[in-house]
Amino acid sequence: MKIAVLPGDGIGPEVTTEAVKVLKAIVGNQAPLELTQAAIGQAGTDEAGDPLPQATLEIARKAEAILFGAAGVPGDESIAYMMRPGASLLRLRKDLGLFANFRPALTFPELVDASTLKREVIEGLDLLILRELTGDIYFGEPRGERVTPSGERQAFNTMVYSESEVERIAHVAFRAARGRQRKVCSVDKANVLETSKLWRDVVARVGKEYPDIELTHMFVDAAAMVLMRAPKQFDVIVTGNIFGDILSDAAAMLTGSIGMLPSASMAHDRKGLYEPVHGTAPDIAGKNIANPLAAILSMGMMLRHSFDRPDLADRVHRAVGRVLSEGFRTADIFQPGTRKVGTREMGDAVVAALHHS
Ligand code: IPM
Ligand code: MG
Repeated sequence: MKIAVLPGDGIGPEVTTEAVKVLKAIVGNQAPLELTQAAIGQAGTDEAGDPLPQATLEIARKAEAILFGAAGVPGDESIAYMMRPGASLLRLRKDLGLFANFRPALTFPELVDASTLKREVIEGLDLLILRELTGDIYFGEPRGERVTPSGERQAFNTMVYSESEVERIAHVAFRAARGRQRKVCSVDKANVLETSKLWRDVVARVGKEYPDIELTHMFVDAAAMVLMRAPKQFDVIVTGNIFGDILSDAAAMLTGSIGMLPSASMAHDRKGLYEPVHGTAPDIAGKNIANPLAAILSMGMMLRHSFDRPDLADRVHRAVGRVLSEGFRTADIFQPGTRKVGTREMGDAVVAALHHS
């Protein structure tokens, strides 16, 4: 297993350390592990003067899978786009062609009461947000800022999708649904945007190739509402880059904490980048209080999607369920009556639980 480890900034290094700890424990001597660590984000700027150093890019290109922590620093927006630590992740996604972003939202029974939503709304929730990751307004040109003739600052971005981009993510969605409840909801804003009109046409056309899958369409504003009101009606949600960014944070709260949410960003082959959804969380960095479970679950997704080891991935998932049922909680999911632990202790607890899972 040839893996690039990119811990990055904020809580990235702490949670990635725990994911690697669990990875080593579960793989043991079942497969040779080749881990190569490299700097990204502010760490990359500090080390090589670029948030995505050439050496890091090479290591990521050669790897079969990438374990990613988080990248970015507060005030990031004031730095020129390409040199922005947070943008290093966007450059990496684009360079490696990681167009399909899987963001499962799954409620662990033990955490049902950690959510701000009512138990009956989220109990048993298991939905997948599939976000297109290399197109849309995130990458569209032209983009920039100019000064109008009247001397006012004006900024602009371009929302753009081509048929082939929508087609390939649609196929991924329908195939993913086959392994689940066979329902796909495509989310867009086709009542207003041309890109969404195209999106809807193409998804509907691709859907005809999958008569066994139920396809519905929903506007993004309505989807945000249904996510809060009755999220269990969804199985797979497929959507564009910006809508997926927003809806996946909303979906994270259904599970109790964004600290629990893993993600996988896949290219055409089995190559993938695995990343907790939570980001850098600079306010709690370096304090050994961050929740490492999203990073650990992301590592589990890596075993499933890049290395075809669903057996090991299931063990990781069961071990996480076990530590939760044993009462271990980091601060973000702590409730009276449970046992508050730090980042490292949570990682150790998962390793211990592996022996029973
Ligand atoms: C995400 C993040 C990124 C994004 C940021 C850090 C650039 O919010 O992965 O959801 O917007 O894609
Ligand atoms: Mg986001």
